[in-house]
Amino acid sequence: MLFRKDKTLLGLNIGSGYVKMVELKDSGSVRTLSNFGMAALPADAIVDGAIMDAAAIVNAVVNLATNLKIKKKRISTSISGHSVIVKKIMLPLMDENTIEETIQQEATQHIPYDIHDVNLDFQILGSNPDNPDNMDVVLVAVKKDTINDYLQIVEDAGFVPVVVDVDTFALENSYEYNYEGEENAVVALVDIGANLICINILHDGVTCFTRSITSGSRLITEQLQKKFSLNYENAELLKMGSLENSKVDGSSALFAINEAAFSIVNEIDKAIDFFHTSSIVESRVEKILLSGGGAKIPNITKLITTSTGIECEIINPFRNIIIPEKKFDLDYIEDIAPLAAVATGLALRKDEAVRK
Ligand SMILES: Nc1ncnc2c1ncn2[C@@H]1O[C@H](COP(=O)(O)OP(=O)(O)OP(=O)(O)O)[C@@H](O)[C@H]1O
Ligand SMILES: [Mg+2]
Repeated sequence: MLFRKDKTLLGLNIGSGYVKMVELKDSGSVRTLSNFGMAALPADAIVDGAIMDAAAIVNAVVNLATNLKIKKKRISTSISGHSVIVKKIMLPLMDENTIEETIQQEATQHIPYDIHDVNLDFQILGSNPDNPDNMDVVLVAVKKDTINDYLQIVEDAGFVPVVVDVDTFALENSYEYNYEGEENAVVALVDIGANLICINILHDGVTCFTRSITSGSRLITEQLQKKFSLNYENAELLKMGSLENSKVDGSSALFAINEAAFSIVNEIDKAIDFFHTSSIVESRVEKILLSGGGAKIPNITKLITTSTGIECEIINPFRNIIIPEKKFDLDYIEDIAPLAAVATGLALRKDEAVRK
């Protein structure tokens, strides 16, 4: 074939706070950012990963795509929350076909849902270091109802869903692409979203522990709403440092933000502590890489380091991606980069259906 077919997908991350879109250009050896944007969703459009107001989400996706002048129709998107179960399990050594035949039965012991209500997937990690006759396998189960709800939204918005991923793995994909060569350490990828904190601990670049916690940056919004009797929109503005609409002084606001941030940090600390005490691997977490809107909480990396004793930095999902200066405001991109981590991981997925 004379021309190389475009194998990139539009990355669409439907978060409960914001819808994010990332489009990359693949020129073989490098990727270039060709489009990025995000749009806020109403407070209760998505609750605990479940779609509550599909029309509002479709609307946000369509408007965002129109504003960004997106032409691509084929997308990769992801799901998170309690509809997704990711578990590392141990199985006797067997080949991939045999796992496919037995995974359903195995999963019944590990999944708290009726096995007929979930889509199952797995990834073989390799033989278990302590039990050479066994191997470690990551089991992924996603509720069919939730997948269908997300697919419906994507289709109603006029797109073709090609990849349906899980937020945690999209984030991991983003990390792998951008932090290649740093994979030996035990790294905790921590995404603080609006309503969900996702933790994925990688050992030698492979997932060894995941946990999602129902908390996030929205907790701060709620704290501000309660403390200063604000509506959701004004509390969101106050959280981002805009004092005009709320008539609250800066230091009281910062104090309230810190209080809620402390509880978020505490949850992260507890989860990492649990990982250490359960000695899944012998090494301790060497670095925490933070993503999501929660990375914008003032001083959050310092708070996390003080609490956990672990070095913490904000992820840069564009570290190995070229950002054309002519097209983008680099300060803005740098500012919102942590919110784009999942969407970038999704945009890095290839459209396997399109052959060269
Ligand atoms: N500058 C900022 N300062 C503080 N918080 C911010 C800032 N920018 C965004 N946020 C918060 O980040 C959250 C959105 O982050 P993100 O897009 O990562 O979440 P999400 O993916 O939509 O949610 P989830 O993954 O939990 O479903 C919102 O709660 C928003 O208020
Ligand atoms: Mg998110």
